[in-house]
This record gives sequence, structure tokens and C-alpha cells, in this order.
Amino acid sequence: MSLKEGVRIRVPASTANLGPGFDTLGMALSLYAWIELRQSDQSVFELHGSEMDGIPRNKENLIYKVAQMVFEEAGVSVPELHVGMYSEIPLTRGLGSSASAIVGALAAANALIGSPLPSSKLFDMAAGLEKHPDNVGASLFGGFIAAAWDGKHADYVRIDPPAELETLVLIPDFQLSTSKARGALPAQVPLSDAVFNISRSSLLTAALSTGRLDLIRSAMNDRIHQPYRAELVPGMTQILKEAPDRGALGIALSGAGPTLIAFVKRGEQQTEHLKTYLLDTMGQHGITASVMLLSPDQEGVCVLDYDRSTSLMDMIRGEVRI
Ligand code: HSE
Repeated sequence: MSLKEGVRIRVPASTANLGPGFDTLGMALSLYAWIELRQSDQSVFELHGSEMDGIPRNKENLIYKVAQMVFEEAGVSVPELHVGMYSEIPLTRGLGSSASAIVGALAAANALIGSPLPSSKLFDMAAGLEKHPDNVGASLFGGFIAAAWDGKHADYVRIDPPAELETLVLIPDFQLSTSKARGALPAQVPLSDAVFNISRSSLLTAALSTGRLDLIRSAMNDRIHQPYRAELVPGMTQILKEAPDRGALGIALSGAGPTLIAFVKRGEQQTEHLKTYLLDTMGQHGITASVMLLSPDQEGVCVLDYDRSTSLMDMIRGEVRI
């Protein structure tokens, strides 16, 4: 096995569910984290960016722990690591920050030891760690994914989202843990709601596969998680109802929230008005927020050139958003 001196990867954020596809549909977004792993005499943790406050700088670090899982799976020993990371993905907001950290760590560790594990294995490991395949699948493969996970193995199809599709994400200034947002869900849902979601989720997948942006409005509706989570996100019910009449092709809670994600047509003039509407409406409910226009990411996690003479931060300067 060819052990490398060091590797760097870039991994995208993601949105999950896309409305009806609870724990199934995901899409990668053009917001990124970068991870560097190097062999080292002793473990060192260099975490940059405001999103890294409070992240462990010892062997409890998620990147370190996930990397060790890869080494164990591949039967190699790399006990000490230099871990570098910069992330522009807001934490605990529904943009897949933990999934991107998991996928980034899996891909970086695998690359460090010469890529013995296939991406399907990395996907199974990632889904096992996240307990659902939607965010991790999007971060791993990029584009739009439909995935089914049986608790051990994830099957998926990845497609290129329509070229005209962009997203406007409304990120409230408060955090909402996935466990709290999942805790709001009922153990059972009526059959009519299950049918409602199966039909919309199938329609959305077909619409995105065929570029039918006109179907997104009705296809992005959900009855099995958003209604129960609405009380955790002030303004959400009103925004989900009104945004399609204010320039959104469709709108949904992004993952477990609290971020809301509107699909918009690239270059559409109404998007500026939609942005103001989203911020104002959330403001009326007492919540400050920020808005970002993001494209679907097409590549998923990618291994970058590693040049020890340039630091990770110097390498990404100019590329980063915040
Ligand atoms: N499908 C997940 C959920 C995504 O909605 O809880 C959040 O990580």
C-alpha cells in the first residue's frame, strides 16, 4: 500500500430531503470545507474559520476518529496525524456540515493510504456514521442523489441537476440540532401522507432528471417531516406557503433545518425580490438570518494537488467565501 506524505481534499456542503425525500434525496451545494491530513510524529490539529470554535483539537476530533476507521478497515496503522481544516459550512444549520466532515475525513484518509477502499465502501461507512444516506451521498458524489440505505449498504443513483437550477438558502442565526429536529417527528404517519410523499419524491426525482423545472413547485411538497418541524423554525410555515408566489420554483426545509432552501432559475430577476422577502419575513418572526445564492456542486469530494511548500490556508485563499 502506498502511503503518501500528505493529502488535501475539498468537500461540498449539501441539502437533504428536498421536501418530500426524507432521508433519501440529497444535493451537493457550492459551499465547501477543506481538509489536510499528513503523517506526523505526534497528532496536531489546525482548525481554521469561525465555524471551528468548540471543535475538539485532540484525538476526539471527528476527522481524526473517522480517519482511524478507514485505516482500520484497510488494515494499516497511522496513529499520529496532522489534521488541518478550514470550513465555510455553517454548523448545525441543515447544510450537512457533519456529513461533509465525515465524507472529507473518509476521502482524505483513504487517499493518504493510496485509495484502497472503493467509493461504494466509503458511502456505506459514511451512511453508517450519519444514520441516513442523503447528505453524505451528496457530499461524496456531488450533484443530485437518490439513495436507499438498509442499515449496512446504500444503493444510489446520481444525476446532474438541471444547468438552470440555482438555490437561495436562508440561514437563520440560530442552531438546531438534527437530534432535536428528529425528536419532533411522530413514530407513525397516516398512509395518505406516506402516499403524498412517495408521489412527490418520485415526481421531484423525475423532474430533476428531465429538467422539468415547472414541476418543482408541486413536487417539493412534504407532509411527513416539515409540518412537525415547523414549530422549531419561526416563519417557516408562512415562507413555505408564500415563497413559490415570490419567485421560488419550490422551497423546502434544508435537511433537519433551520435553513430553508428555495430552488430558483439561474439569472432570474425575481430572485433579488425573493431574497428580500425571505429575510423580511423571518425578521417579522423575530429571527435574523443571512442569505446565500448557491449552485449545485457537480464534483462531490475531490482530492487536490498536495504541495507542502504552500500551506492549506494559502492554497485556498481567494477561493473561500467567508
Ligand atoms: N434526512 C435528515 C433529516 C437530514 O431530515 O433528519 C438531516 O441530517
